[in-house]
Amino acid sequence: MAFLQMKSYAGRLLLTVLLGLFLSCESKVTNTSKKEESKDPIAYKIDSILSNMSLEEKIGQTAQRGKSSRVKELPKDLKEAVRKGQIGSFLNIMNKEDAKELQMLAVEESPNKIPLIFARDVIHGFKTIFPIPLGQAASFNPMLVQEGARVAAIEASTSGIRWTFAPMLDISRDPRWGRIAESAGEDPYLTGVMAEAYIKGFQGEDLSSPTSMAACAKHFIGYGAAEGGRDYNTANINENLLHNVYLKPFKIAVNAGSATFMTSFNDLNGVPASANKYILKDILRDEWGFDGFVVSDWNSIIEMINHGFAKDKKEAAEKSINAMLDMEMTSASYQDYLKELIEEGKFSEKKLDVIVRNILRIKFRLGLFHNLYFDSNDTILYDKKHLASAQESAAESTVLLKNINNLLPINSKKKLAIIGPLANAPHEQLGTWTFDGEKEHTITPLKSFQQDGQYTIQYSEGVSYSRDKSTKGFGNAINTAKSSDVILFFAGEEAILSGEAHSRANINLPGVQEELINELHKTGKPIVLVIMAGRPITLGNIIDKVDAVLMAWHPGTMGGPALKNIITGVVSPSGKLPVTWPKEVGQIPIHYNHKNTGRPVIPEEFVHMDSIPIAAWQSSLGNTSHYLDAGFLPQYPFGYGLSYSNFKYSDVRISSANPKIGDTITVKTIITNTGNIKAKETVQLYFRDMVGSLTRPVKELLRFKKVTLEAGASKEVIFNFSTDDVSFYGQDKLWVTEPGDFKLWVSKHSMDEANELEFTLE
Ligand code: NOJ
Repeated sequence: MAFLQMKSYAGRLLLTVLLGLFLSCESKVTNTSKKEESKDPIAYKIDSILSNMSLEEKIGQTAQRGKSSRVKELPKDLKEAVRKGQIGSFLNIMNKEDAKELQMLAVEESPNKIPLIFARDVIHGFKTIFPIPLGQAASFNPMLVQEGARVAAIEASTSGIRWTFAPMLDISRDPRWGRIAESAGEDPYLTGVMAEAYIKGFQGEDLSSPTSMAACAKHFIGYGAAEGGRDYNTANINENLLHNVYLKPFKIAVNAGSATFMTSFNDLNGVPASANKYILKDILRDEWGFDGFVVSDWNSIIEMINHGFAKDKKEAAEKSINAMLDMEMTSASYQDYLKELIEEGKFSEKKLDVIVRNILRIKFRLGLFHNLYFDSNDTILYDKKHLASAQESAAESTVLLKNINNLLPINSKKKLAIIGPLANAPHEQLGTWTFDGEKEHTITPLKSFQQDGQYTIQYSEGVSYSRDKSTKGFGNAINTAKSSDVILFFAGEEAILSGEAHSRANINLPGVQEELINELHKTGKPIVLVIMAGRPITLGNIIDKVDAVLMAWHPGTMGGPALKNIITGVVSPSGKLPVTWPKEVGQIPIHYNHKNTGRPVIPEEFVHMDSIPIAAWQSSLGNTSHYLDAGFLPQYPFGYGLSYSNFKYSDVRISSANPKIGDTITVKTIITNTGNIKAKETVQLYFRDMVGSLTRPVKELLRFKKVTLEAGASKEVIFNFSTDDVSFYGQDKLWVTEPGDFKLWVSKHSMDEANELEFTLE
């Protein structure tokens, strides 16, 4: 990480001793009561600004505006509004000169000289694009994720962006949902670990440094539970699931110091998140003590009219402001109606002061009051070290799912046929949410093999883009395959097929990719299928036709070299699935941490529908919680991923078979790389609470550790956890740790039960 510390910015900072003091004290502020604040210099400063602010200016701080990219000039009315202090933040101002001009107006001409915050969706890189977040989660490597977020902050802050709308922490159990690409997958613990890594990376060691960006934990809450995976849809999440699964990573985000939160578009159990007092006030503020600010999602306040929750804009504003939603993104219901609502006694100026304090507090923490302007250091964009970091991240995100007869890695004597719509698609491999990454900087797999020069390659795209339905390229591709030893087929989805409002009802390879794979299979040449996509892809029609499968997600700028190194064995794959991979869409939702049911699957008794006799006696006996056609297994389980090496787990042990509540429990194992190459393995610790006052999942990820081992080397892996880590939110609406029997598994993936331990909590 040392290289990311960057050069000194001291010269750029207009630090005063007093403000330095303010900042050092600010981090200690947790209690916002008036008395406490008066002891604190920043709170004191905020109070003194507040006392000079008119009601209009206070309302102004709650407004976040954007500018259409189609409009070249900064509109006059926008400038005027800034001059009057009627805007608190902007999003998507991408012209640095515009940003500078607006900031100057704010800090020099507005009544209280309050700086603006410029925000942007910097989701998985700014210019140097890292793998999509689902891919980064597959690395199971929080240090790499933190480093990627740091790179993003360093690059984005050169444009004055000091606030990113990331990380997205929505638990995603439905790969039809396009935004699964932007998530860390289905597991609350893994998502929490990733949350902390992103927040540390974006915010850096000191939020007031000009290269730090405020993080935004989003979307609060339940967006990933959208009905049927259709974006923006209703989320019905019962109280237990809400606390035990969906809220968990957000709590971790608060503890990690996320400066801001964003509400979600969906309604949660009938109450839209943007006016949901229970989550915004009772949980986020009162229970968790969050002292940053909350922004709505794009127009999500006024969309409550469509939800049928508010009759008009005014009522929408009333409901959101009373839920203490601090800032309104893009729509202007607060601006238009807050004054009226206060005059009518439907909200109070005192409460508005609390909101303005929340916003100003973050502006102070960002150092915006003393570091007025930014100067851009463009030379840092696409820095060599940033590219190296993106390549490492892409390599560690790649998951080896299948490798018959050790087809991979491929040695340089083999002639390679490079085929498929994603082999040389510089824009597509960047993935969703890459407004700023430029395809000219992308290195595709084809380019990477060409640049390497050691391999005999022939290229024929076969189909020109993922949805292409034309078969006119098939002939060439088949001939190319015939004159080669191995086919590298780069398949997948274009970037536009995942992300916001890009859900799919079928999640197979689109277009005629499957047909082409079938034709190539007929050549008898072995096929390595490399998938670039924003979600797991159902492979039922082709899985038996290919010999090896690598899931590369959308790997970003440096996907090409990362994949070339894996395919050729320079690097052994080490990614693990952060989501359960279904065989068929009909199995969705499918996730490893499900409940057992009263009739759990009995694998040896499963009868496929093709084996049921005609006119069989109608009975449910012998049948369990499975599908007659698709069975009960996923294609690949959560946590799964192969390596070019093998790992032996031995000497698995627990510190105590009868721990007491409050104890720390230690699980140890020795892991040995039994293969002949250096490789990484993610050791996963799962648990099951066997009997609970609420039914418990069959398995929950408790800890994981990624270790690097030279060929033949061994290492001891130690996991510590407390009995709080196996607690759950129970029937009495409290967190409980219940005495009783627990099982633990030290595993290679969520279905591996080879190393089982037990303990009884007393
Ligand atoms: C809508 C998306 O849901 C949110 O994640 C994003 O940050 C905002 N638009 C701003 O672009």
